[in-house]
Amino acid sequence: KPFNRLLLTGAAGNLGKVLRPRIAAWAEIVRVSDVAAMAPAQAGEEVVRCDLSDKAAVNQLMRGVDAVLHFGGISTENTFEAVLRANIQGTYNIYEAAHLHGVRRVVFASSNHAVGFYEQNQFIDAHAPTRPDGMYGLSKVFGEQLGRYYYDRAGIETVCLRIGSSYPEPANRRMMGSWLSYDDLQEALRCSLFTPRVGFTVLFGTSDNPVRWWDNRHASHLGFRPKDSSARFAHLFPDSGAYPSPNDPLMRYVGGTFVNDGPRYGE
Ligand code: NAI
Repeated sequence: KPFNRLLLTGAAGNLGKVLRPRIAAWAEIVRVSDVAAMAPAQAGEEVVRCDLSDKAAVNQLMRGVDAVLHFGGISTENTFEAVLRANIQGTYNIYEAAHLHGVRRVVFASSNHAVGFYEQNQFIDAHAPTRPDGMYGLSKVFGEQLGRYYYDRAGIETVCLRIGSSYPEPANRRMMGSWLSYDDLQEALRCSLFTPRVGFTVLFGTSDNPVRWWDNRHASHLGFRPKDSSARFAHLFPDSGAYPSPNDPLMRYVGGTFVNDGPRYGE
C-alpha cells in the first residue's frame, strides 16, 4: 500500500465516518482519531481518542505517521473561544507535531466559509483574498495560513481543500453550487495525497455542478476531475420564476446563512 500510516482526525464526524472505509486501501494502517467516541477499529485501523487542543496528546498521536487528513474541529459557526481551542490551537498542534515527527504532507479540510462573504455571482480562484464569514471561517483562514507558513518554513506540503457542501445530496438551492459528492471528496483527497509535488495548494472542493463559483486553475497540477454533478437534483429545487431577494443570504453569499450566524454587532 502507498502509505505506511495515515492519520485521519475528525473520525467520529460526518465526513470522518464516510471516509474511514474509503481511505483504508491507501495505507497499511489508518490511525483514526477524535475527541468523541468512534466506532471500533476495523482491520488495518488504530483508534486513538485525542483532544486536538492538547499539544502533548497530539504529539503522541503523530508518532509514526506519514501523512495527515485533518478533518477534526468545530465545523459550524461558534464562539471565538470555542474555535480558538479546537480549530486554531488544534491545527497549530497538528503542524507542530507534524514538524516534530517529520511528516511530509497535510490535507486540511478547509471550507467555503473562508471565502463565504463573496457573492455567488463572483467567479473566484485561489488567488482571491479570503473573505471569512464568521469565527469559524476565520479559523479556517488561520488553518490555511498555518499550511502556508509550515511549507515556507519547514517544507511540510499542504493541500487546503475548501469543501463546499459534502452531503449525500444537496439540501437546498445554494448547495446546487456548493455540493461535493462523497465520491468526489474521496477523489479530491486521493489527488491531494498522491500528486508527487503539491507545495502549498488551495483546492476548491465541489462536484462538476452546473452552477460554478470557483476556478481551480491554480490547482490544475492535482488533476482533480469531479465526476458527479448536482444537476441530477435540480428537480428538488424548482425555479420559482421570481428573482431571489437580494437580501436573502442563502442565495446571495457563498457562505449562505453563515454570514448571519456570527457575533451580533449592535443590530
Ligand atoms: P463534524 O462536526 O461532523 O465532525 C468534526 C469532528 O471533529 C467531530 O467528530 C468532533 O468531535 C471533532 N472535534 C471537534 N473538536 C475537536 C477537538 N478539540 N479535538 C478532536 N476532535 C474534535 O463535521 P464534518 O461535516 O464531518 O466536517 C469535517 C471537516 O470538514 C471539518 O473540519 C469541517 O470544518 C470541514 N468541512 C465540512 C464541510 C461539509 O460539507 N461537511 C464543508 C466545509 C468544511
